[in-house]
Amino acid sequence: MIVDQIGNNFLNFRFPEKEGFTYGFNLYALVNNTDVMIIDAGFRTQAKMVYNDIVSKGLKLTHVLMTHFHPDHVNGLVALPEDITVLGSPEYHKTLRKRIAQTVTPVSFSKGFKFGEFDLSFTAAPGHSPCSILIDINGQHLHVGDNIMSRYDGKAILPWVEYHELANHIASLEMLKAMNRDRVLLAHGPALLNSRDINKAIENRLSYLRTVIKTSGKCTYEEAISECSCEYEGEEFFEQLKRD
Ligand SMILES: [Fe+2]
Repeated sequence: MIVDQIGNNFLNFRFPEKEGFTYGFNLYALVNNTDVMIIDAGFRTQAKMVYNDIVSKGLKLTHVLMTHFHPDHVNGLVALPEDITVLGSPEYHKTLRKRIAQTVTPVSFSKGFKFGEFDLSFTAAPGHSPCSILIDINGQHLHVGDNIMSRYDGKAILPWVEYHELANHIASLEMLKAMNRDRVLLAHGPALLNSRDINKAIENRLSYLRTVIKTSGKCTYEEAISECSCEYEGEEFFEQLKRD
């Protein structure tokens, strides 16, 4: 685990992918005096390491803010105290399968949430999951969850999406593109820190998803990525999508 300070009271816990795994993890932490909010919980291994690091610094984990509730983001909650506040999309129940001790508090898309010096606001971005949200942090960073995924070294990972959610994923990426942001945080892969890289990442994913939907999933993998200007990891996600 590598811990980077990426801003005032703002930490990034980075986990390179283990051998044989498609992706590593990023967990972000916001610090408010001695209280800490982490964004996503990863699997148990990541959650435990982050929790121990927070405790070793004399801080207290009080909140976990979920980008969405897929197992690789939520299972870590099992290793965390029961009394922490878990925040996430009001649609969390559509995805959450893991039995967790904590209660989920739905975020408000109109009011946002204040945590110390951090003003957080949320936008629904369904597609990768029905409960995916975008998290704006002080108008500077935008955490996009798994709307864009990449390897630890930045190599693109093919979007993971179920067939019936394709149109939603496309709409969410189009919305993200229109936001024209220049600092985007990912749950898997390094942050994208300029609008050119962000646009390129979005366009490549859109190109793949649009070809799949246009051909009703009958294209080959090579056809699906033919307009993309990047190479992808995670070809198996294409086969899974076609079987949906
Ligand atoms: Fe994920």
